[in-house]
Amino acid sequence: MSETDIDPTTPRKNPQPEVPRIQGRALKPSTLMMGHGYDPTLSEGSLKSPIFLTSTFAFENAAAGKRHFEGITGKRPGGAEGLVYSRFNAPNQEILEDRLAIWDGAEDALSFSSGMTAICVLMLAYANQNDVIVHSGPLYAASEGFIAKVLSKFGVTYVDFPAGATREEIDGVLAKAKDQAAERGGKVCMVYVESPGNPTNALVDIEAVRDSRDAAFGGEGDVPIAIDNTFLGPLWQRPLDHGADIVVYSLTKYVGGHSDLVAGSIAGAKKWMDPVRALRNTMGGICDPNTAWMLCRSLETVELRMQRAGENAAKVCDYLSQHAKVEGLGYLGMIEDERQKDIYARHCLGAGSTFSLLLKGGEAECFRFLDSLRIAKLAVSLGGTETLASHPASMTHLSVAEGRRAELGISDNLVRISIGIEDPDDLIADFEQALESV
Ligand SMILES: Cc1ncc(COP(=O)(O)O)c(C=O)c1O
Repeated sequence: MSETDIDPTTPRKNPQPEVPRIQGRALKPSTLMMGHGYDPTLSEGSLKSPIFLTSTFAFENAAAGKRHFEGITGKRPGGAEGLVYSRFNAPNQEILEDRLAIWDGAEDALSFSSGMTAICVLMLAYANQNDVIVHSGPLYAASEGFIAKVLSKFGVTYVDFPAGATREEIDGVLAKAKDQAAERGGKVCMVYVESPGNPTNALVDIEAVRDSRDAAFGGEGDVPIAIDNTFLGPLWQRPLDHGADIVVYSLTKYVGGHSDLVAGSIAGAKKWMDPVRALRNTMGGICDPNTAWMLCRSLETVELRMQRAGENAAKVCDYLSQHAKVEGLGYLGMIEDERQKDIYARHCLGAGSTFSLLLKGGEAECFRFLDSLRIAKLAVSLGGTETLASHPASMTHLSVAEGRRAELGISDNLVRISIGIEDPDDLIADFEQALESV
């Protein structure tokens, strides 16, 4: 089933954006990406939105200025009614946020200058001194580092659980977190998961996390479940449908999709977005107008690009899985573990195009493989039009302690590959010659 098979008006726990209809038919995200949230008549008929390079916006009169500030500062509920100042809101960013919300079926979305800015502002908005964050592992190293090394400076602690944990195991971790919070005079402030986890592709059972959270706190209370959906979103996994409250993206990856920008976002119900918007208003970190414009352009082709990359990855993995020098693949299209298979069947709409390749050998074999690639580029990041390959243990996850790396399955013989939209047989030829050199 593809993303476009989902009727965005299906009733869900999360309040839905108003989706335009024609002949009673709710328009699909791929259609809405061409114009949703932009009115050409407000910009001299320009078919595409101009890039609004301005730091501030002229008020129609002083009373309007007062009203807008009441909305911005929270004195009046409902947020800003108009454009005020580009640290708070601006046209390109608002168009982008409207379109991002569509993909995840979210009521509201916020854009940021990077995925990490989105994650840091989100956590800072919810964590108070002595609070406890519960998180899955592995996380992207910088996310894990922000919790363990930065939030800890402000008295915030964490309890983690492995991706793939069962309902009972998550219940146990939440009970431990509640005890830890009570001892410290704080509260459990957020459950933060990354699924699939970077770089192993281990999946988290979002439904089990939701059930556990609801049981532990008598419903969602004030403990949101946030999920980093960078590896599969927005096409192959819709976490808000499975019990998550906030979906997080590095837009640098599949959404931007051309390895030419850095940005991030979060989306969810307005009530979960409001505290984050308020902190973004104070700290800054909103996406810049040029990047927001580029992202709107990228969103027009995100479905096409992801579909092609997903098809390519299936062909490449088929080839790699049979190669004598390959020990294994962490590809969601070839899961062997029964529990992971079950989570995949319930949560995922496609296997994605980013996976880990385990070579027979260790770092030396991986380095020889990486140095021999001629089409795939040796670079960190993922989700671009071009195929990228990297060695997480010595690159993205170098800062993770060795013991923790072993625990998370980030071994020395693991290469992370993100398949792009090149010709799949050319890619297979490239991997073939690189494996010959190992
Ligand atoms: C899963 C995941 N989340 C978050 C990030 C951070 O995103 P950014 O580089 O846009 O700050 C990354 C970056 O690689 C990532 O892979």
